[in-house]
Amino acid sequence: TKDWNGVDQIVLRNPQGASARVSLHGGQVTSWRNDRGEELLFTSSKAIFKPPKAMRGGIPICFPQFGDCGSLEQHGFARNKVWTIDDNPPPFHPNDTFVDLLLKSSEDDLKCWPHSFEFRLRVSLSSDGNLSLISRIRNVNGKPYSFSFAYHTYFSVSDISEVRIEGLETLDYLDNLCQRERFTEQGDAITFESEVDRIYLSSPNCIAILDHERKRTYVIRKEGLPDMVVWNPWEKKSKAMVDLGDEEYKQMLCVDAAAVEKPIILKPGEEWTGRLELAVVPSSFCSDD
Ligand code: BG6
Repeated sequence: TKDWNGVDQIVLRNPQGASARVSLHGGQVTSWRNDRGEELLFTSSKAIFKPPKAMRGGIPICFPQFGDCGSLEQHGFARNKVWTIDDNPPPFHPNDTFVDLLLKSSEDDLKCWPHSFEFRLRVSLSSDGNLSLISRIRNVNGKPYSFSFAYHTYFSVSDISEVRIEGLETLDYLDNLCQRERFTEQGDAITFESEVDRIYLSSPNCIAILDHERKRTYVIRKEGLPDMVVWNPWEKKSKAMVDLGDEEYKQMLCVDAAAVEKPIILKPGEEWTGRLELAVVPSSFCSDD
């Protein structure tokens, strides 16, 4: 199928009826639904489905820069590119439905970021409805280089004031609202009552978002991505964003598996892999931490 802008998008469906939608624009996941057809990712009603910005919602990919601490545009250029279907994909798991996308550095990219890469993204939906994203980034350049990265994931929540995150207690974080100054989180689960924009460092590989009202828990598992970004723009910032409704901050929470504090370094010919796996369960659990 096509997206709102005439760019191809791919719909994945498992036999139980769960689904996911991926756009070639940005390699962005734009929808993930459980087998009851309930949408699990947030998309703004004011989202703009037009380059050169990622549409507000789903899972935009931030590469090769996270945020605006660098020479590139905010969150890097990958989210603004039209990706292709990878016709030379890595081996796969027979029980999953998936799509393989590819982004290679263009002449334009090389002007602002002179490091050739091949970025392979697999988006798959398992038989139990879990969504996974695997990024493989290869240095096809003659010299080493480094990058930062994030799966900028917009979760749909019932009411931001009622949700909490478990798994980031006692960690150090960089506060984007204070020039990335470093603080230490206290012992309690994270709850929300004002704008939050933090990069939690060296976080566990499994954390959970508990949505009490919907009796729903999102379980986030990651590999190769040490940090976890937590973002909610709250009231004032939402009003300043053209592609987010004034009240919509209440229904969204961004929790991004990321590599920000320590950039990933790739030698010539080397490949890095970063995985994200999302599951939704009735109550809190993280079995392997
Ligand atoms: C978050 C950043 O991840 O993304 C915020 O921490 C930023 O600082 C937000 O405002 C949204 O970015 P953008 O470019 O998609 O509007």
